Parts: sequence; C-alpha cells; structure tokens
Amino acid sequence: MRSLSPMLEKDSLRLLRDALDKLEAGFAPLPPLGTSLPDEGSVARVLLEVAGRLQDNYPYFHPLYAGQMLKPPHPVARLAYMLAMWINPNNHALDGGRASSQMEKEAVADIARMFGWETHLGHLCGGGTMANLEALWVTGQIHPGSTVVASQQAHYTHSRISAVLGLAFESIPCDRCGRMDVQVLQQRLDQGGIGTVVATIGTTATGAVDPLPELLELRHRYSFRLHADAAYGGYFVLSDNLGEETQRTYACLDEVDSIVVDPHKHGLQPYGCGCVLFRDPAVGSFYKHDSPYTYFSSSELHLGEISLECSRPGAAAVGLWATQRLLPLVRGGEFASMLQDTRLAALKLFEKLQKEPRFMTAFPPELDIVVWAARLARVSQASEIARAIFTEAARYDLHLALAELPVDFFDLAAAGMERDRDTITCLRSVLMKPEHLAWIERIWELLVKATDTVWQQHKAGD
Ligand SMILES: Cc1ncc(COP(=O)(O)O)c(C=O)c1O
Repeated sequence: MRSLSPMLEKDSLRLLRDALDKLEAGFAPLPPLGTSLPDEGSVARVLLEVAGRLQDNYPYFHPLYAGQMLKPPHPVARLAYMLAMWINPNNHALDGGRASSQMEKEAVADIARMFGWETHLGHLCGGGTMANLEALWVTGQIHPGSTVVASQQAHYTHSRISAVLGLAFESIPCDRCGRMDVQVLQQRLDQGGIGTVVATIGTTATGAVDPLPELLELRHRYSFRLHADAAYGGYFVLSDNLGEETQRTYACLDEVDSIVVDPHKHGLQPYGCGCVLFRDPAVGSFYKHDSPYTYFSSSELHLGEISLECSRPGAAAVGLWATQRLLPLVRGGEFASMLQDTRLAALKLFEKLQKEPRFMTAFPPELDIVVWAARLARVSQASEIARAIFTEAARYDLHLALAELPVDFFDLAAAGMERDRDTITCLRSVLMKPEHLAWIERIWELLVKATDTVWQQHKAGD
C-alpha cells in the first residue's frame, strides 16, 4: 500500500537495514541460528491492525499540531533506538548492556558539559518525573525533615513526589510574569525549615523561567539546596536569542546543586528519556546498596549503582548518543539553531496576537510557549470563548492547548475586563518544532478563521 502523501518519513528504514547487517556481523563467530520471522502473515496482520489503531492520534509530527509539549524524535534517534531493539540492552548493569551503558555515560557527560559541568554525577531515567524524584530524594537525604518549595507554576509532580518521599511541600506564588516571587520566598525563608528550593527553568504552562541570580543570592544567605527543574527548558542554555533576564538565569545555571532535563522533550528523543545531574559526584554515596545478582562482570561503574530505577532501556541511551553525535550540544550548532527557531516562532505568534484586538496577551514568551486569552467583557466569558476557539481550530486541523492561569498574569484594567473569576482559561501553544517557524502564517490564518466563526456565534447569541 503506497501512502497518498509523504506525511511520515520512511526513507530512513533503508539505513536501518545496513546498520543491522553491520550489527549482525559483530556476532558472526557464534554458531549460526538461522533466525526467521515467525508466522509472517500473522505478524503483518497484527501490525496493520496496530497502524489502524494508531491513526487515532493527533498529528504530533505535523506543524499544525501546536498544542501540548509533544514533538517527534529525530530520525537518527528513532533508527538508533530501533537498531538497539535487536539487542535490547538493559542499562542497569554492564552485564545487561556494556556498549549502551558506555554510550549513556558519554551522552550524559555531554549534557552536563552543556550546562558547564566538567564533573558531575548523573544518568538517564524514565522522564522528568523520575528525574525530579531522584533529585528530591537526594535533597531529602541531605536535609531530612525539611520542606521543599517550588513556585505555584512549577510542575505538579513536585508536590506529589514530595508526598511520596515524606517531605513537606509548599508553593510560592508567582509574580505577574509567571516566575517565582522572590520576595515572598524570602519571607518564607525567614520563617525557617526550608531545605530545598526548586527553580523551574521553563514552566510547563507558560515557559516562564524562575530568576536564578536572585535565588542564588538567597541560597548564599539561607543555605538551602537549589534544584533546577529544567525538564522542558534546559536545552535553551544553548540558545543565542533569549531575552536579557532569561539569559541571566541560564548564565548561572551551573551554580545550582542539581538539574533535571528531559531529552524526550526538547532533546529529540522517544519517550522514556529523562536525565538527572548532580553537581557534586559525592551524592553517589546515598545510592550505595548491595546486590548479590548483578555487578559481577566488572569493577567499572554500573549505572544501577547510581540510580533508583533498576532495569532501564539501553536503547534510550543509544538513541540519545546517536542524536548528540549527529547534532552536538554546542552553541551556534544545528541543534541550537533549531531551538532558536522555536523561540522565533513563539515571538512571531506573540507579535501577531498583540495586534489582534480580540485577544489579550500576558507576558512575552521567554522560551517557545505562548499563552493568550480572549478579550471580552468578563473573565468567565473570555474563558468560555477560549474553549470554543480551541474546539473550532481543531475542526480546521489546527491543534492548540488550553491552560487555566491566574488572571493576574493579564492586565485586565487595560483590557477593560471585569474580574469575575480568579483564573482565566487561556489558549496555549507550545511551538517546539523548528518547522513551526515556517508555518506561523498558516497557523495564524487558521486561528483567525476559528476566531471569526466563534466571534460571530458569540455575537449572534448576545
Ligand atoms: C517543568 C517540568 N517538570 C517535570 C515534568 C514531568 O516530566 P515527565 O512528563 O517527563 O515525567 C514536566 C512535563 O511536562 C515539566 O514540564
């Protein structure tokens, strides 16, 4: 069956065959196996059934999918991951995945170096939640019985993880730009009992970046542990086109105690690839444990000795290593330029939104997430209309997202709006694919079309 239009890249499958041949050659000295595909007809039938089932998805790979934080992996990541599937290495111990463990160590060291760390302790894990769990677990070992704080816009995972770890958790309100309010934090620090401050380097809802220079200043005075949740925003450390304040924060990211970054968000990896890094390798002592079953093949470091998860996909490390080999994590490189394009796309959309009288913008995007609201007499009406635009846009194949945000992020007085609710339902777009930049005009055209329809219906209903 030939596809009608080249929507999904498939040429790369040819490369996989050559790579498989090379991989197989490495095992040639073994007695032949004569392996073949068991029951090809049935496998083909089931696979086509799977393809049919997978059609029930939003088109995450397409630039008109401009909603949630989702983007396809790079072809090289996909291929390298698949190639590793013929071996299925387990990066828990060298016994389960020698090459992929080494590739993980190299790839993670490159990520640490991207943040300015020549020495570190770190590893890959299932994703941002697991990575943050390890960072907060370590902090709980260092400051037992103390409280963890994060901003009200921090990912909800922090309060949940703290509960899992038996650590008290408190939220600190945000300023009008969606960043942690440092003055409120200081008042809370004066009351005592805080062991850890989580700085979000790119919040999930709006992409706001907590002000690290001020937080570092406070750490100096109150000596808490500073953890950076850069799960979404970490890679922007390579970007040359950030705003001045945002840039100031990225410039001192190397001074925090731990960093979480998700290669499966902006690092072009398939899901199942988070990364946690500690500045001080000595925290490795907290992971110390005995295992009678593994670690017997070598005295070299087994990744299971420095991670909470046991079995982990070596394929995730292989995909990441291959991607970083092709697109090194350096300023001015191709990977950095992709991030710059996503931010440019966000700035372009923001500029258009600012000029459109039916919309109201909050603060300018710090990274590549844009949020905006409808401008109507009351906040409740604006929320309803945002939901209607979201649904109408999807009818034209433009997929956006919604976010419930504090009304304080918007200048209601300037917009002449009545505050009849404390939060407002906003439209939100994560423009995280570099292709979004070339598609902004089309995205805008469809957004205006959806808005026209919803506005007419709203007027007719008045
Ligand atoms: C800032 C931040 N932290 C943590 C997470 C959780 O990451 P994951 O979904 O990979 O577990 C997310 C997810 O969007 C995030 O944006």
